[in-house]
Amino acid sequence: MPATNVSLRMLSDQDVLQQLRALRQKQPVKFTAFYSSQLGGIVTDPALMVIPFDDHMVHRGHGIFDTAGIVNGKIYDLDAHLDRFLKSAERSKLKLPGMREEMRDIIIKTTAASGRRDGSIRYWLSSGPGNLDLTPVAGADPGFFVMIFAGLVYPEKWKTDGVRVMTTTYPIKPPLYAITKTTNYMPNVLMQMEAKEKGFDNGVFIDHDGHVGESSNMNVAFVSQDDVLVHPKFDHILSGCTSMRLLELARKLVKSGQLKDVKVTDITLRDALAAKEMLLIGSSVKVAGIVQWNEHKIGNGKPGPIASALLALLEEDMRSGDRLIDVPY
Ligand SMILES: Cc1ncc(COP(=O)(O)O)c(C=O)c1O
Repeated sequence: MPATNVSLRMLSDQDVLQQLRALRQKQPVKFTAFYSSQLGGIVTDPALMVIPFDDHMVHRGHGIFDTAGIVNGKIYDLDAHLDRFLKSAERSKLKLPGMREEMRDIIIKTTAASGRRDGSIRYWLSSGPGNLDLTPVAGADPGFFVMIFAGLVYPEKWKTDGVRVMTTTYPIKPPLYAITKTTNYMPNVLMQMEAKEKGFDNGVFIDHDGHVGESSNMNVAFVSQDDVLVHPKFDHILSGCTSMRLLELARKLVKSGQLKDVKVTDITLRDALAAKEMLLIGSSVKVAGIVQWNEHKIGNGKPGPIASALLALLEEDMRSGDRLIDVPY
């Protein structure tokens, strides 16, 4: 091996802080408040939004997370997201840092401290620090973290022109890991990178039986030629809180005659490609019409009427529905 002359500094506490701040200057972030059970409170300086390297969420991926939205100064559908968070914790054998009500209260108070009236709340549960083994350290306190941030932003043309997706070449997660919102998103990350490299907006997983799964951080759904809204079953994909809510709200479109029915069922790629409309659904994207899958045009190649009707129903629910929580700013 050739000799190199890398010079390494020994850093003081001040050097570390300075370096953390320099990193944030290089890559500005829109993080407005961060709660950490390990720090014992809330920080607003992004340089201080850190987690110890030996936390098993960092080096073993033993952690879970969830994300809820802040809309016009209220938190939308937090209880559905918290229910899913607790189910993910149980499946991952993670201890809780306290009662559900305490975690809920911390989420609401961190949102208030941030002052942010529109954006996202992402929160994590980790198995805690203590060593570099696999199983949690005896007596380790689980870590609970809450980040208030601007939220994910997608290009405006996703709304106006629709989204183009491809079947990913990456294998879908086995059902247990797909239904659990763990911090291991490697397949989802690789799928999105692959799609972008190939000139698409996103990818879609197909399962081993040839059934449509989900996208990177969004669910997919279809409007069949006979006007039925069809959604893949939730036994091999994440139970999207947005999809769950929309499956209820879509009943209004059945009443008004825009849809014939709403069904959750296995969907083959062939059925998917024959759809009148295809939708991407999730807390960050809300509802977007998919207009192309691989080389196939979906419907007439434009976002369809059910996509806009569902988006309108969701936006109304976010503005004035019964799933809003007041934030004590
Ligand atoms: C893999 C995956 N599928 C679907 C979704 C959509 O879920 P939600 O509607 O709760 O945002 C998400 C986002 O959390 C996700 O990460």
